[in-house]
Amino acid sequence: MKAIVCTKYGPPDVLQLKEVEKPVPRKNEVCIKIFATSVTASDCIVRGFKLPVWHPMGLMMGLVLGFRKPRNPILGMVLAGEVESAGIDVKSFKKGDQVYGWTIKSPIKIRFGTYAEYKCLPENSVIALKPSNATYEEAAAVPYGGLLALHFLKKGIIHSGQKVLIYWASGSIGSSAVQLAKYYGAEVTGVCSTKNLELVRSLGADRVIDYTKEDITNKGELYDYILDAVRKSKSSKLKLQCKNALTPNGKYISVDDGSPKAPVENLILLKELVESGHLKPVIDRSYPLGQMVEAHRYVDKGHKKGNVVITV
Ligand SMILES: NC(=O)c1ccc[n+]([C@@H]2O[C@H](COP(=O)([O-])OP(=O)(O)OC[C@H]3O[C@@H](n4cnc5c(N)ncnc54)[C@H](OP(=O)(O)O)[C@@H]3O)[C@@H](O)[C@H]2O)c1
Repeated sequence: MKAIVCTKYGPPDVLQLKEVEKPVPRKNEVCIKIFATSVTASDCIVRGFKLPVWHPMGLMMGLVLGFRKPRNPILGMVLAGEVESAGIDVKSFKKGDQVYGWTIKSPIKIRFGTYAEYKCLPENSVIALKPSNATYEEAAAVPYGGLLALHFLKKGIIHSGQKVLIYWASGSIGSSAVQLAKYYGAEVTGVCSTKNLELVRSLGADRVIDYTKEDITNKGELYDYILDAVRKSKSSKLKLQCKNALTPNGKYISVDDGSPKAPVENLILLKELVESGHLKPVIDRSYPLGQMVEAHRYVDKGHKKGNVVITV
């Protein structure tokens, strides 16, 4: 089968299209023929892994993923496709099922391998039937941002009438978080740059703040919950601004906090929300598998709107 192999950590050119052996499902696994995957901010962090091993995060990444090159050389954590075959013990899926999902079960049970034509996964992985009204590309734009946004929003126990601020609202996590917070009945403010104001409004945000022109404390508004999807913001001015914009019982959560969990129930909920029209997959660009290097170059710039998908 064709796959994109990460030959070593480094710039996007380390990714090469190669012919590799097609995987065979074990008794408890399904073999999925992948029609679409996506390039996430996390994929780029793994591919470009630069942290020194004496850095706690570098040591952890090295131990989990491999020190000089990824132990599993095929990256990619999101897939949408069709079950091609299933092991004899598989009960919940059958040949021909149209599924979607992601390969990360927990921060230590990290699997990659979706930058390929086929991927085998245990049936109890984070996979579910894909939204029936979504194309494979649209379905591949849902799991990463959707599962992470749900995880972080559920930590805030969002409920109707709460005032919620989503910082970094135009990214993969933010664009899902805006829509999911609206679904839970919150009054949502999204923070993004000028060029993304319309997008964030179109996702349902009641108000938008342009971070290139003002900071979130300018209007004197206070929020019950702030989701800060900006990485490495722990010691930043932004974190302080967020804390100053909280109601007395307000909660601030950064995507840096803790290890996200993604139960399969959340993936099923996302499917239902796409089908009911509460969650629209946001696709910035799509590339064919053979243009993975270009896709990574684009995502590396850090300005994608929502998701970048790959047609396999
Ligand atoms: N802790 C974890 O486990 C975990 C897991 C997954 C992701 N993350 C991190 O979470 C962050 C968000 O992920 P993502 O996939 O949503 O990222 P993304 O899709 O790559 O984010 C790109 C978007 O962010 C916007 N942006 C950049 N700087 C901004 C700022 N200062 N304020 C507001 N918006 C800004 C960009 O808009 P402009 O063009 O306007 O700049 C662009 O639309 C990433 O850094 C990722 O590494 C953490």
